[in-house]
Amino acid sequence: MKYARKILLLWGISFLVNAQKFSVILGRPTDKSMTLSVLFDQNIEYQIEYGTQSGSYPNKTSLLSESANIPKEFDLEGLSKNTRYFYRLQYRLKGGTSFTASPEYNFMTARDPGASFVFTVEADEHLYDKKGVDNMYRICLENQLKDKPDFMLSLGDTFGDDHNATTITSTELKTLHANYRPFLANICHSVPFYFCMGNHEGENNYYIKQSPPNNLTVQATLWRKYYYPNPSPNAFYSGNQEVEDYGVGNPENYYAWTWGDALFVVLDAYRYQSVDGSSEKPKSWDWTLGKKQYDWMRATLEGSKAKYKFVFAHHIRGQDRGAITNAKLYEWGGYEGDGKTYSFDKNRPGWGKPIHQVFKDSGVSIFFQGHDHLFAKEDLDGIAYQEVPMPSDSTYEIGMLANADAYTANQLRGTGHIRVAVNPESVKVDFVRAYLPADVKIGVRQNQEIGFTYTLGKAAPSNVVLANQLEPKEWLTIIPNPSNDLIRIQINRNYQKATFSVYNQLGACVLKSDTPELQVKNLPEGSYVISAEIDQEITHQKILIKH
Ligand SMILES: [Fe+2]
Repeated sequence: MKYARKILLLWGISFLVNAQKFSVILGRPTDKSMTLSVLFDQNIEYQIEYGTQSGSYPNKTSLLSESANIPKEFDLEGLSKNTRYFYRLQYRLKGGTSFTASPEYNFMTARDPGASFVFTVEADEHLYDKKGVDNMYRICLENQLKDKPDFMLSLGDTFGDDHNATTITSTELKTLHANYRPFLANICHSVPFYFCMGNHEGENNYYIKQSPPNNLTVQATLWRKYYYPNPSPNAFYSGNQEVEDYGVGNPENYYAWTWGDALFVVLDAYRYQSVDGSSEKPKSWDWTLGKKQYDWMRATLEGSKAKYKFVFAHHIRGQDRGAITNAKLYEWGGYEGDGKTYSFDKNRPGWGKPIHQVFKDSGVSIFFQGHDHLFAKEDLDGIAYQEVPMPSDSTYEIGMLANADAYTANQLRGTGHIRVAVNPESVKVDFVRAYLPADVKIGVRQNQEIGFTYTLGKAAPSNVVLANQLEPKEWLTIIPNPSNDLIRIQINRNYQKATFSVYNQLGACVLKSDTPELQVKNLPEGSYVISAEIDQEITHQKILIKH
């Protein structure tokens, strides 16, 4: 009887251990280390077992101890560069006897030059307000895991701290940061996470002045750092060296690193956003990266010989809409709001040149931003300006409806992430769409379909609008199709403005028109895609040219 009771007790304990939940968020990967932020919902003892072969864990940490619901960061050190590691957690209730093993997870250490790898980018999760939908976001995260990226970046508007900016409490901020963690935990056990501040993080030099330390910026920074490991300068990362008051320490807000053939530079558009910190939403010349961050960014970009250079920020100049239109203005582009009067030296004496010019002169490949909630890809002076769509918009068009007119090219509806494949010869960028199961339509809309793709590098730069995003519209007719001469596009609905572009199979734009008539007699035979932008809607139709 005693024995049976003991069995029952052991079974009960093991059930409790199995029933408890944990999350692991990887961060700050280097060539020889990885940070694991581990959080259990019970008081636990655990070990991390790891090795370079799946299923074999010759290395073990000492027994670590953790209290319920308190994340603890632990660095795995002494790792080899350019190596995939496999690991698992062995855990038990504090004082328990037998261990339970987690599933096996894995990660890469920093790649050598010449190595091929994938990373992903998302922006504006907005799970804290009605724009972001939990189930939609989970699908997008699963899609990113399937890409097997070495790491992912989020470009902000993730925690939503600033919605009651002057009255929000530290406890409420804790909850906002804690709530996001279970989502990331679905994939970040094997995908290190980098965070880039958005405007809704509320970490800026306007709020930081309001009754410190009991203000939005100080408390939001503390809770962000508590739950999410971001880089601070060391032998592998450069970045912000400052140490802030009130226990904040290094704010881990801007940083750079090299991975394979690529340099990654993450900027913070908000912490120093207003020249004298007196503006909640600084405009024109009042918006700034701050001289320190600018000098660091410039030295980092100019000092790097990496083949590819990627820069990330929530948005150029912080608050307005659009990318290349704004990239010409103020601190980013040097011109006054009229776009004609160059006055950078007067407004930023001693700085030298505006941000876009630094990008151009130092060979930046792609600038990634969020903020506007749609996919758009523009080019300015050989630099791709990539607007990253939402990963969590179940309407698939929040940004298209609100902000498409702020962009000049390749605006697309859709929810999803950006996948970037870096290879020695080229960089391939894909817009990977996500769909809720109920919205999938065979042959028309499929989860993980590629909405747009382009390549940089030795292959001729190209933009490709893929056939699987073709969505026939009953109000748009192309006559004749196939065609060998003049194509007429009939739009059977009211509209204000329409533009049309024809893309060949390599994705090159071969024809553009502001009228619904396209002369194609000089185009070689073959299959093409007509991209029709009608007011704020873009649709793509396939056409054949036969002579
Ligand atoms: Fe946003």
